[in-house]
Amino acid sequence: MIPRRGDGQAVLITGASRGIGRAIALRFAAEGYRVVAMDIPRQEADLKQVQELIRQENGTCDLVFGDVSNPESVRTFVAEARTLAGHIDVLVNNAGVLSLARVDDIAPEEWDRMYDVNTKGTFLVCQALLAQFREAGKGRIVNIASIGGKRGAPLQAHYCSSKAAVIGFTHILAQEVARDGITVNAVCPGIIDTEMGRNNYRDEAALQAVKDKTAMGRLGYPDDVVGAVAFFASDDASFITGQALNVCGGIIFH
Ligand SMILES: NC(=O)c1ccc[n+]([C@@H]2O[C@H](COP(=O)([O-])OP(=O)(O)OC[C@H]3O[C@@H](n4cnc5c(N)ncnc54)[C@H](O)[C@@H]3O)[C@@H](O)[C@H]2O)c1
Repeated sequence: MIPRRGDGQAVLITGASRGIGRAIALRFAAEGYRVVAMDIPRQEADLKQVQELIRQENGTCDLVFGDVSNPESVRTFVAEARTLAGHIDVLVNNAGVLSLARVDDIAPEEWDRMYDVNTKGTFLVCQALLAQFREAGKGRIVNIASIGGKRGAPLQAHYCSSKAAVIGFTHILAQEVARDGITVNAVCPGIIDTEMGRNNYRDEAALQAVKDKTAMGRLGYPDDVVGAVAFFASDDASFITGQALNVCGGIIFH
């Protein structure tokens, strides 16, 4: 049998029950990775469905539950993931939340929620795995940021700035751990057809506006994003670190 690039490796994916995270889980399983799929307990039914789909294709998928924004929960689910998989080779920080409000109307608690999940969550899960990656002398981290973190979007000051912070964090962590054999990169999706993405086009006119501002003239789909994530996790990306790659069909160009 021709070896697959994930054979013998394990990936931990946060927010894997639906949308982009689900597509990432299915793609990594198809590449031979042992998948540990993580989400909040409320998403158990959807996460089990991801596990079932992977098992139907003879892949391996374990589930862990928790909350990426809670340090104790992160320590617990990362330890469970390591026990289940033996070791983790790749971490995909995909869990995220979005809400819409003008700056005038953003409640401080809502501001904190965006940062707690999107930014602190990314930091906490990275931190929890660094020692294991260092010990192994290798590790791959892929953070799912957003083009919103580079160019912003109205009604999303809290979300977009939390994603800009993820990009900044990616640049810095990449420099701190490069000599330990660990790479850290970010993928910045454009507007992707998921429950979260649909906030960007709540009616036909808004959908058309999204298409008009995209060079390729269409929405993105979760499967459009997974190739970049798999690439950063692979040996093909061994000399790439600290980068933030747009996967947006041509909305922004830098
Ligand atoms: N859809 C888009 O247009 C788009 C664009 C740019 C970036 N992104 C980013 O891609 C990632 C995936 O988004 P999506 O579109 O699939 O959204 P989604 O809302 O469909 O999925 C988000 C997932 O994160 C999980 N999650 C939320 N809070 C969590 C927590 N505290 N702990 C663990 N898991 C938690 C949810 O349960 C869900 O499974 C997010 O980081 C998002 O910011 C999405």
